[in-house]
Amino acid sequence: MQTAQDKHVLQEEYAIAGEIVPIIDLGPFLAEEPGAAHTTANEMRDALERIGFFFIINHGIPKSLRDRLVEATARFYALPLEQKMALKVNEEGNGYVPTRGELPKTSPYYTGTRKPDVSECYLLQRDWGPSHRPTQNQWPENESGFRTTVMEFFEAAEDLSIRMLPLYALALDLKPDFFDDKFPKCQGLNFLRVARMPPDRLDEDEFNVGPHTDSSFMTLLATSDQPGLEILSQSGRWLKMPLIPDAFVINSGDMLTRWSNGRVLSTPHRVINASDTYRYSIPFFLHPTPETVIECLPTCCGPDNPAKEPPITSAAYLQWFLEENFALGDKVYNEAGEQVTVQETA
Ligand SMILES: [Fe+2]
Repeated sequence: MQTAQDKHVLQEEYAIAGEIVPIIDLGPFLAEEPGAAHTTANEMRDALERIGFFFIINHGIPKSLRDRLVEATARFYALPLEQKMALKVNEEGNGYVPTRGELPKTSPYYTGTRKPDVSECYLLQRDWGPSHRPTQNQWPENESGFRTTVMEFFEAAEDLSIRMLPLYALALDLKPDFFDDKFPKCQGLNFLRVARMPPDRLDEDEFNVGPHTDSSFMTLLATSDQPGLEILSQSGRWLKMPLIPDAFVINSGDMLTRWSNGRVLSTPHRVINASDTYRYSIPFFLHPTPETVIECLPTCCGPDNPAKEPPITSAAYLQWFLEENFALGDKVYNEAGEQVTVQETA
């Protein structure tokens, strides 16, 4: 349990060059203390509108689960490459993405020349997706508990994210239950990304994860103990995010920015692993049900502030995002950063 005083000390310690990424204590809200929802939502409003990132402490997900998740991830990546390539990401966006198989082109910072990311990742959803439709997860064989541990974290991250929805609603001046029917348990288009970043030296124009924004409504990020995440502040500087023991990083993504007509930030971020060992990064991406229409929230537009984007369903938005950023199915990136089929490279 981290106390309010701990939080104050941490906040001071991790103030980054005067641009503070807030640490939000979820304990009082999760314990349903009177007034805690509004107090916490006010802190989140500031974080969402000012920086797009915050830390959460006293969130209820045990450190032991994070540690087991990182261990299971390390075991998965220790598998031979051919075993991982047998799980290559499919058209639905599930499976293994080898190093240099991702180039985040939807990023406002994509220049057209940057090299694909120097990291491997593995993308998965629930085995049974929205409306009890089977998804096409590709699980490794003989995986010594990888699947069980990963899904245990998926459940915990989804539960916590859904519990936080009233805070998002209050932060946006909506009724606390506004988002509830849009994110029913087990029916959202939620993804987990399980990534490994090598300690190898990078070329000047290479990143472990290049500058990008997330597709999500919100992202909940677990990592191993190596730093490397940097975020682009509103002043235009790349800020190194500290590691705070037992905290998770939360950020808002493009979907919430679009829904809120730009009121909530979707902050560009990137990763450079400067440590001498592999870095593991496991973000959970929360999205609403496929049929949810993302159209400007009633508290985020008006006669002087018309909607900037037309309505789009959650499913259509996410499919566009995946196709733009990943070499899906039989696609790979060539040296010019273009998606081509495997046959075209032969
Ligand atoms: Fe991201």
